[in-house]
Amino acid sequence: DLSPSDNAKLAAAKRAVEFIEAGMRVGLGTGSTAFWMVKCLGERVREEGLNIVGVPTSSRTAAQAREEGIEIVTLDEARWLDLTIDGADEFDPEMNLIKGGGGAHLQEKIVATASDRMIVIADPSKAVDHLGTFPLPVEVIPFGREATRALIERSLREQDVWARDVTLRMSGDAPFVTDEGNHIFDLSLRRIGDPRELSLMLNQVPGVVENGLFIDICDCVIIGHGDGRAETRE
Ligand code: A5P
Repeated sequence: DLSPSDNAKLAAAKRAVEFIEAGMRVGLGTGSTAFWMVKCLGERVREEGLNIVGVPTSSRTAAQAREEGIEIVTLDEARWLDLTIDGADEFDPEMNLIKGGGGAHLQEKIVATASDRMIVIADPSKAVDHLGTFPLPVEVIPFGREATRALIERSLREQDVWARDVTLRMSGDAPFVTDEGNHIFDLSLRRIGDPRELSLMLNQVPGVVENGLFIDICDCVIIGHGDGRAETRE
């Protein structure tokens, strides 16, 4: 028996997978909601013989897709994608997102941007009026990490963005390491006034690889509910 939260994620995932048609190249997101999408897609591949290829956004999703019997290729082999389905940590009324809670936002942003369409699947807890309650993940290269942190803090101050903390993400006693071998700072901002401006500013800091703001990338949000309903916003 699933928890209400898993039921909601499953409901959104099921609805999203209905958009996948034979012959498509599909970006496969990362996280606990995307997990259900890969599971549902695996079922369609096995039961209907649905012929698609998937491009995973993390080593975790790649392993799960293989187990599900989904054919996977790299983004460079696929070159472009019809559709990407992924979760999000927050989405606002404009369908701008915060992603990267699972540490995969760099590959996720590259894959989603290479897709004709991005569908986000979420439970109602991810809906916000303003982005920023969820700490914003910023992926940085390990070289000069503390200098990069200081530059991020200075840029935030200069832009009058109030930040409580710029916290290095840990995995046990060691810094968390992304699939690309980088580290992550989580920025506690509380509320982001201008997500587009903040995203541009952060990506201008040397050492920053990519931040977790997805601006004008998502085309559709499917919100699943604990009772199995799913609503679509476009
Ligand atoms: C992974 O890096 C993230 O961007 C996830 O897509 C995001 O954190 C949503 O994950 P959940 O579905 O587990 O909430």
